[in-house]
Amino acid sequence: MINIIAAVGKNNELGLNNQLLWRLPKDLKFFKEKTNNHIIVMGYNTFVSLGRLLPNRTHIVLSYNHSDFVDEVIHFKDYNELLKFIKNKDVFIIGGASIYKLFIDIADNIYLTEINDSKKCDVYFPYFDKTLYDKEILGEENDNGVSYQFTLYKRRKL
Ligand SMILES: NC(=O)c1ccc[n+]([C@@H]2O[C@H](COP(=O)([O-])OP(=O)(O)OC[C@H]3O[C@@H](n4cnc5c(N)ncnc54)[C@H](OP(=O)(O)O)[C@@H]3O)[C@@H](O)[C@H]2O)c1
Repeated sequence: MINIIAAVGKNNELGLNNQLLWRLPKDLKFFKEKTNNHIIVMGYNTFVSLGRLLPNRTHIVLSYNHSDFVDEVIHFKDYNELLKFIKNKDVFIIGGASIYKLFIDIADNIYLTEINDSKKCDVYFPYFDKTLYDKEILGEENDNGVSYQFTLYKRRKL
């Protein structure tokens, strides 16, 4: 099962200068609960921006140009090799923009925190056809004066 998880602004803003745009502690808690004890898949830039390994999760990093990873990281240079490895596994794709783009058309579930705010950014969440998904609202929160909804887009079985 391929799960995508991301937090996006009103215009699908994702990040700026390899950082997140909003500080939303309750969203980070949601992210932690969802991804805990799972495999997380990310691009090199997101791995760098995390700055550390996240506890209780298996880290997979996709990178052509870097190979100097700590032993705990499973590194793939090749997207197709990565796809073979995660086949029949339950994984969370945690970003960034280039990695979401690689998985958006094959994701089963998309957990999107939809933030009621807009900011300058340099990366966006990719377009996806929402008519192919059933949308569930999992909750609403706010942090530091910013409100947001936890949503789940489940791909409809054809
Ligand atoms: N809002 C959110 O929920 C959220 C979540 C995650 C990240 N973000 C934000 O997103 C931004 C980072 O996104 P990004 O698109 O710049 O970077 P990214 O997707 O995290 O990483 C890009 C890197 O991944 C590697 N890569 C990508 N496609 C590959 C492929 N097909 N095969 C092998 N390697 C591949 C390359 O690494 P090499 O250059 O090493 O080869 C590439 O430079 C940051 O601002 C971050 O804060 C936001």
